[in-house]
Amino acid sequence: MKIVVRTFAGFEEILADEIFQITNVKAEIGKRAVYLDGDLEIIYSLNLWCRLALEVLVELHNYKASNEDELYNGAYEFIWDNEFSIHETFSISSVVNSPFFNHSKYASLKIKDAIADQFNKKYGKRPSVERDNPDHKFLVRISHDQVNLLWNTSGDPLFKRGYRKMTGVAPLNEVLAAGIIKFSGWDFKRPLIDPMCGSGTFLCEALMIAKNIPPSIERKNFGFTKHKNYDHALWTTIKNKANEKKNENKPVLMGYDNLNEMIIATRNNINNIDPNNDCKITFKDFFDLEPPVENAFLILNPPYNMRIAQEKNHMFYEKIGTRLKHSWSGSDAWILSGDLEGLKHIGLRPIRKIKLFNGPIETKLVHIPLYKGSKKIKGNKIG
Ligand SMILES: C[S@@+](CC[C@H](N)C(=O)[O-])C[C@H]1O[C@@H](n2cnc3c(N)ncnc32)[C@H](O)[C@@H]1O
Repeated sequence: MKIVVRTFAGFEEILADEIFQITNVKAEIGKRAVYLDGDLEIIYSLNLWCRLALEVLVELHNYKASNEDELYNGAYEFIWDNEFSIHETFSISSVVNSPFFNHSKYASLKIKDAIADQFNKKYGKRPSVERDNPDHKFLVRISHDQVNLLWNTSGDPLFKRGYRKMTGVAPLNEVLAAGIIKFSGWDFKRPLIDPMCGSGTFLCEALMIAKNIPPSIERKNFGFTKHKNYDHALWTTIKNKANEKKNENKPVLMGYDNLNEMIIATRNNINNIDPNNDCKITFKDFFDLEPPVENAFLILNPPYNMRIAQEKNHMFYEKIGTRLKHSWSGSDAWILSGDLEGLKHIGLRPIRKIKLFNGPIETKLVHIPLYKGSKKIKGNKIG
């Protein structure tokens, strides 16, 4: 089968590395996606193990179309009742980049009609479309005149890991958090501290990475379990093997927040992953926090509340910079923010900057090593 694994922009290379670790197969790099060939075992393993993937899709049918009829006919040619039955629900989403088709919704509609008509002709009945929680999700991708029909084997996106039952107002996407930890090169040996931990996404992802826990082990639903070709024995074997791969690493993980409900949420979420974890989650304001260890690995995602007056937000970032400089020398700080101006106000020189997207919001991840005498810089140095 031809497999397409979707991810965030900028994550393609690290996702291909991850897939190689999981499957020993070299994936080809695409745009916000990577491509590989594989069987059901690979599909199930990717769904269970990929920390950096949003969805695992399988190509069902490829054809050319430059008008509505060709689009419809191509989808009608494909045998849909090999995939699902009239008693189940489905949805079609689309990504269209073509001079021949202007509206992606219209493309979805045409494919849906072709599927419904084919079932109607064969059974006198058709399966229902369900937008929110369908049994089967399909994607149509049109690039110029090339049409790709794909089956979403994941169902819900893979950032829905199942452990995060409680969140704050601005929780970080789990895949983004895992990617940031990967980019940072954290090696589990240094204590990892999130001093503004919110619902604890960095800490949860770090714990799973360090202990080699599959990110989706807590998930109850995957698209592939509803497919006609679902192999329950294979899936059970893959999950059992995964549980055996868990190690006894005890990473030092600490989280702080100045909102009590976030402390409760983080503790809860981490306990959902490993009830015996040693993570220390404490109510504390960052500006009162003395480093609990030397040589810490700080990962933080300060608030970038668009509703707060910009000037106030910038003063907040300036204070973060001053605090880091005076109290945290010997540590490394990795900071993610969507307030690109705010980041400049930290005023400490980053040695690495990575552009990332948190949904539609452009964010920047900066790495600032903190050392004695590190100088505050003026102006737009984090540009
Ligand atoms: C953008 S959220 C972090 C979200 C988090 N990464 C997650 O995945 O849930 C920023 C967090 O910083 C916390 N915060 C804001 N000011 C703080 C301060 N002075 N000290 C400690 N935490 C603070 C907020 O309560 C909020 O939970």
